[in-house]
Amino acid sequence: MTVCEYKPGLEGIPAAQSSISYVNGLEGILEYRGIPIQELATHSSFIEVAYLLIWGELPTQEELESFETEIRYHRRMKYQIGDMLKLFPNDGHPMDALQTSAAALGLFYARRALDDPAYIRQAVVRLLAKIPTMVAAFQMVRKGNYAIMPKDELDYATNFLYMLTEKIPTPYAAKVFDVCLTLHAEHTINASTFSALVTASTLTDPYAVVASAVGTLAGPLHGGANEEVLIMLEEIGSVENVRSYIETRIEKKEKIMGFGHRVYKVKDPRAIILQSMAEQLFSELGSDKYYDIALEVEKVVEEKLGAKGIYPNVDFYSGLVYRKLGIPDDLFTPIFAIARVAGWLAHWKEQLSVNRIFRPTQVYTGLHDMPYIPISERM
Ligand code: SDX
Repeated sequence: MTVCEYKPGLEGIPAAQSSISYVNGLEGILEYRGIPIQELATHSSFIEVAYLLIWGELPTQEELESFETEIRYHRRMKYQIGDMLKLFPNDGHPMDALQTSAAALGLFYARRALDDPAYIRQAVVRLLAKIPTMVAAFQMVRKGNYAIMPKDELDYATNFLYMLTEKIPTPYAAKVFDVCLTLHAEHTINASTFSALVTASTLTDPYAVVASAVGTLAGPLHGGANEEVLIMLEEIGSVENVRSYIETRIEKKEKIMGFGHRVYKVKDPRAIILQSMAEQLFSELGSDKYYDIALEVEKVVEEKLGAKGIYPNVDFYSGLVYRKLGIPDDLFTPIFAIARVAGWLAHWKEQLSVNRIFRPTQVYTGLHDMPYIPISERM
């Protein structure tokens, strides 16, 4: 067995072979099953993109309608999960509630029939259908309200915003939200997808796979950055404060949230699309001072760190869009998770054919043949 050189964070080390998505970090290219993200953001829908990612090709009209109907039917969650959400502290982070409730789905559906295509399809449909319901339910319950039941007649994005706010969103707001889901659906072997792969490689159930990935996405260096960006923009407070704030953080070697990427060394193509959506939203619904601050942050960071390939990533503008849609800041990352369930499931399904447990090696830096010292003799 050849042992590769140790690379912190596995930088540049392939952990999988995959045909699901492709990223070119120097040219700012992102493709899902070979289709450019710009095409999908303009012409597709999140449910169609989820089908494309998981089953590898665009669905026919009949396949799409059947998939969508199954998802609408499975949106409801077991009452026990709704009751469980009521036991959580209202000030708990929604990502922790989501990770717990995603794992809890396994209590009801985890029959591990991974060689049964019907079981795989059921798991895909249930996770795509129920994760939004659980996120919206926690939001309602932590405000002291009953969870809102899904409306079968509403499409995926409209139904989620309805369950979250008890109001039917405008078609424009629903479309913006649906595009955000498409943009966040998949991104090769990022940290949370890698978690999903490692967990899936033990042949556990797909609910545990998604719960593992949710826990990984929550971190501020990964999906949690979108919430941190708004905190940063609020700390800055005005366009005039941007330069000194950024210079101070760079001097302290503190990361600027929403910037940098292991793969992209140019502006993330998703950030470009999200920024243009933010501009449209603000022209439709009213300007936002934090957008002006964000533009100044991007200018100063590019001036200071552009040479190192530090540019806005997907998390820099997404929070501004979500906030304009009336979504609470601490739900930005759960919404990232709602979308990324499609990518995690696509890699889970692809990985099943590999059927080899992840078990990397290490470079041992410790000692050998050390004596056991009785506690009475230890200093
Ligand atoms: C996502 O992988 C994916 O595909 C993820 C994602 C997806 O769709 O799944 O795209 C989603 O997670 C986007 C990233 C969200 N996170 C953030 O915005 C947090 C801030 N960004 C950084 O923490 C960082 O850029 C990472 C974690 C995203 C990438 O880190 P790397 O590849 O390990 O880079 P690094 O930490 O080794 O940094 C390399 C250099 C360092 O400088 P030097 O020590 O070499 O002088 O670049 C600097 C870093 O200090 N650097 C930054 C920076 N990011 C890197 N400096 C300031 N601000 C930053 N944001």
